[in-house]
Amino acid sequence: MTTAAATARSPIPIRRMDFELTDDIPEHWGIDGNPFLTALMSALSASFPAGERYFIHSVNHYVDQLGDDPELRARVRGFAGQEAQHTKEHLAFNRFLDARGVPALAIEQRVEEILDDLKRHNTPAENLAHTVALEHLTAFLASAALESPEAFFGKMHPTVAAFWGWHLIEELEHRSVAFDVYQRCVGDEKLRLRAMAIITVFFTAVNLLRTARVMRATGHRWDLAAWAKGLNLLFGRPGVLRKMSPLYRAFYRTDFHPDQHQVDQALDQARAYFLPGHERTTG
Ligand SMILES: [Fe+2]
Ligand SMILES: [Fe+2]
Repeated sequence: MTTAAATARSPIPIRRMDFELTDDIPEHWGIDGNPFLTALMSALSASFPAGERYFIHSVNHYVDQLGDDPELRARVRGFAGQEAQHTKEHLAFNRFLDARGVPALAIEQRVEEILDDLKRHNTPAENLAHTVALEHLTAFLASAALESPEAFFGKMHPTVAAFWGWHLIEELEHRSVAFDVYQRCVGDEKLRLRAMAIITVFFTAVNLLRTARVMRATGHRWDLAAWAKGLNLLFGRPGVLRKMSPLYRAFYRTDFHPDQHQVDQALDQARAYFLPGHERTTG
């Protein structure tokens, strides 16, 4: 483990991608070719554009309070740039999903309404605490995927694998930015832990409901074998999420920092595989 203070941070690169979503991408393009996991990933993709705009909004609120810290300011710019690119590519991916009968636009619009409401009614500190919690959950999912690449990407169409691989790589690259801004400008431990408890329940519940909605819309509502196999792959033994549960629990420690979880090796391998020709950014 390394401490945050002792770690020299790598710059956060903004990569401009343009994935070509072709007709040969199979109906069940998700993890393991599983309809339930495809629906779950579709629901997540539909929630990302509004979610990522909310993250950028929450972090940017504090930019003027960062003082004389050019490194953190540069990392905030990198974070916002990466999230903006994710939004752009997920919007394109969501339109691809719409064309296949997934209610991605409807989910997108609903998430936008929920988050606009939060922006209006929460304090900036609460918005940033929620962002920190959600960024930890996305980093958690990214670690689970990139540390078990065969289970996640093994059966995926190469374009879909590259699209998700790129996004997950960048989630790990910027995983500590919102946290560092929070520690610098808010620093309320009770709020951070409360936000994670609330977000975990909310994130799990709404994503399962949205997954069920996608399953229904695409005619797979009663594919119980797909539900069982998908849930087992995530939470069973040895489920990829269960394996990563210590990383989730670490967030509740008072000395937690996102950089304590070492991901350099998984990141380097993933960048070499999914982003050949793009710059190496660690080390
Ligand atoms: Fe993102
Ligand atoms: Fe992120």
